Amino acid sequence: MTSPLLSVLLKQPCNRVPVWFMRQAGRYLPEYRELRKHKGSFLDLCYSPQDAAEVTLQPLRRFDLDAAILFSDILVIPDALGCKVQFLENHGPQLSTIRDEASLNALSLENLHPHLAPVYETLSLLRSQLPQDKALIGFSGSPWTLACYMIEGKGSKDFAFTRSWAIAHPHLFHRLQNLLIEAISEYLIAQVKAGAQVLKLFDSWAGVVPSAYWNDWIIAPTRAIISRVRLIHPDIPIIGFPRQAGVQALDYATHTGITALACDQFQPLPWIANTLQPSITVQGNLDNLTLATDPVQAVQHTQHILHHLASRPFIFNLGHGIIPETPIAHVEKVIETIRAFPLSHARHDAA
Ligand code: CP3
Repeated sequence: MTSPLLSVLLKQPCNRVPVWFMRQAGRYLPEYRELRKHKGSFLDLCYSPQDAAEVTLQPLRRFDLDAAILFSDILVIPDALGCKVQFLENHGPQLSTIRDEASLNALSLENLHPHLAPVYETLSLLRSQLPQDKALIGFSGSPWTLACYMIEGKGSKDFAFTRSWAIAHPHLFHRLQNLLIEAISEYLIAQVKAGAQVLKLFDSWAGVVPSAYWNDWIIAPTRAIISRVRLIHPDIPIIGFPRQAGVQALDYATHTGITALACDQFQPLPWIANTLQPSITVQGNLDNLTLATDPVQAVQHTQHILHHLASRPFIFNLGHGIIPETPIAHVEKVIETIRAFPLSHARHDAA
């Protein structure tokens, strides 16, 4: 049996709406919290193949999901390049900063594959344990989003320092971008060799890029990665997630070579249906805060999303990752709603 997620990505007929959730493994699950208590740091967990595979599978044991997403983090790439990366409890990630020629010169691709070998091993373990109908998703951060964390050194609501720095130092910024393009391409190619059947590129901070830099910071590097990966794995489906890109998502869908576009909760359903879906498979876009807060509204919004999007190639997901406060019962209700939805009720006209 082929997996419903792969069928939809290949635009083959499928009688089921595939569903998975960003951050479907994580702190909202008691079994994850329990395992985390006994293991070292979050990054240690990412580099422990047996444990990372176990955590990846936890949500699939509880819920009727169509895909497993590798348990790891986008910041393993900066870590592998030689940045110092730490996850401090309740403070998010902290990185040594890349803001001048010396710190850029200190980064190196030499250790990339040895450093990331445990991640490849996690994928191989998962592929051997997953049934055929569950797709295995590998991923990476995109160059812009990784550069944001490497330049800023931490999370931010708007990455204003990073933007000013990239504008002021285009030569250094391009060197960093090119290094990231190479590292990410290599990493994704190795993930497919290890068993990933779908790839996802997370550009979580695409939404803070001014339109004057959109092509240079987002489109060109994403397209470069996709063409490099496809040289080695021509048929690999790739989902792109330019978060909060608004109407620029159409340009991203048209010019990067992605197979499917992940939409966030700020993009209106009729716009997604009429503008994006005629040409590309879409994924999304239930609001993660609604899911955490109100199961009745979460179910209504789920039905609304299905009504607008489920008659054409569509993958159900959230607009952003599950937050730790999310009750498990809310996730169950949303999945039940998806399974109960008669596909004949989805719109067949342009919505
Ligand atoms: O989706 C999944 O279940 C797969 C695993 C996954 C994680 N991070 C696990 C994680 C994936 C795909 C990511 C991607 C990621 N990481 C992104 C892109 C998606 C997005 O959310 O926009 C980003 C920006 C990061 C960077 C990152 N990792 C931050 C900012 C944080 C701290 C915030 C937080 O929620 O704690 C992390 C930590 C992180 N990544 C956790 C998990 C389960 C929590 C770690 C813990 O157990 O304490």
